[in-house]
Amino acid sequence: MRNHGRTDRSAAQDGVELRLVDNHEMAQLGNLTFPAYVTAFSEALSEGSQMRPFRLAAIEKGNPIGLALATMYMDSGQAELRSLVVAKDHRNAGTGRSLLLEIETRLRDAGCKDVSARFSDRLPGAGSFAALLVGTGWSAPEPERIRILGRVGKTSEVFRDRERLVQRALRDGLSIVPWRDHDGDPRALILREIEAGRAPEWTQIGLSDDTVDPDFSMILIDGTGEVVGWVICQFHPGVRRWGFPVGWIHEEHQRRGWLLVAYAQGAHRIEKLHGADAIAVFESSSGLPMMWRVLEHRFAPYADHVDRVLVSGKHL
Ligand SMILES: CC(C)(COP(=O)(O)OP(=O)(O)OC[C@H]1O[C@@H](n2cnc3c(N)ncnc32)[C@H](O)[C@@H]1OP(=O)(O)O)[C@@H](O)C(=O)NCCC(=O)NCCS
Repeated sequence: MRNHGRTDRSAAQDGVELRLVDNHEMAQLGNLTFPAYVTAFSEALSEGSQMRPFRLAAIEKGNPIGLALATMYMDSGQAELRSLVVAKDHRNAGTGRSLLLEIETRLRDAGCKDVSARFSDRLPGAGSFAALLVGTGWSAPEPERIRILGRVGKTSEVFRDRERLVQRALRDGLSIVPWRDHDGDPRALILREIEAGRAPEWTQIGLSDDTVDPDFSMILIDGTGEVVGWVICQFHPGVRRWGFPVGWIHEEHQRRGWLLVAYAQGAHRIEKLHGADAIAVFESSSGLPMMWRVLEHRFAPYADHVDRVLVSGKHL
């Protein structure tokens, strides 16, 4: 049974010790976070890095029963809570709340001003985690991104009218240039556009990763030769997936469906080169409401998996 009278009781009083752990100890805490974080938080700090990791474990009678992981950028004072897990048999006893409050204190002591957390609404613990956040003064979690995972062969069903859409966009003057065929440096071009304030900051997500795929990442150019948008595609060899973390088009072209045309072309080319069963993950941020609606209404019914990334934050 849940103990509703426990809020004034801290986990520490129940014989649970909260202790910062170092990177070497992560291997023993693998059951208390996601595999990717075990790897990332096991790494030693690289010299000159502005990013500082925080690993806070809850230990009971020598056994780790909970773990909170966060990263903080020392230059900006911004932190991200990456993971908070309490072992199944120890839930609903106040440990999650104690870990959360303690990691907030550690972050604040290190100079952190704002902390945020992003998590999938499909996470089995999403409901408990959201309740815990709101109950400790975090903002109500709101959808920030939508992710649609499916077979590229299915996109021909999504885009029954692909050819017509493409022809219309081409007549309107759109050119879709794969990075491989671009005669400049697409990365530098994107950074210049963001620097000049012509595109939002988030449009460079994944830009510097070496997983960027030059065939399916694209620059969108209008009839006057002006850059009006881009698509970043990353190939993840471990899971053999093509991810599209960024697809952005300038506001004045959003209504013309050009971004959709670029996605349709990208999926079509992946299918031609890698077969209909190749998996693509399309994403849109809440900053592109039109694209979001298209993914939700047009793509989601054909997808294998749909989730929304929720974001919550707290001013420390
Ligand atoms: C989310 C999680 C860390 C909570 O840990 P916990 O130790 O069980 O949480 P606590 O006992 O400290 O609960 C604190 C508060 O959270 C809320 N809460 C926790 N579980 C809840 C549930 N199942 N339903 C509703 N609220 C819940 C309550 O507000 C509770 O406060 P209360 O005293 O007013 O009831 C734990 O459920 C977990 O590990 N889940 C799986 C991993 C996960 O999804 N993590 C989040 C993303 S990384």
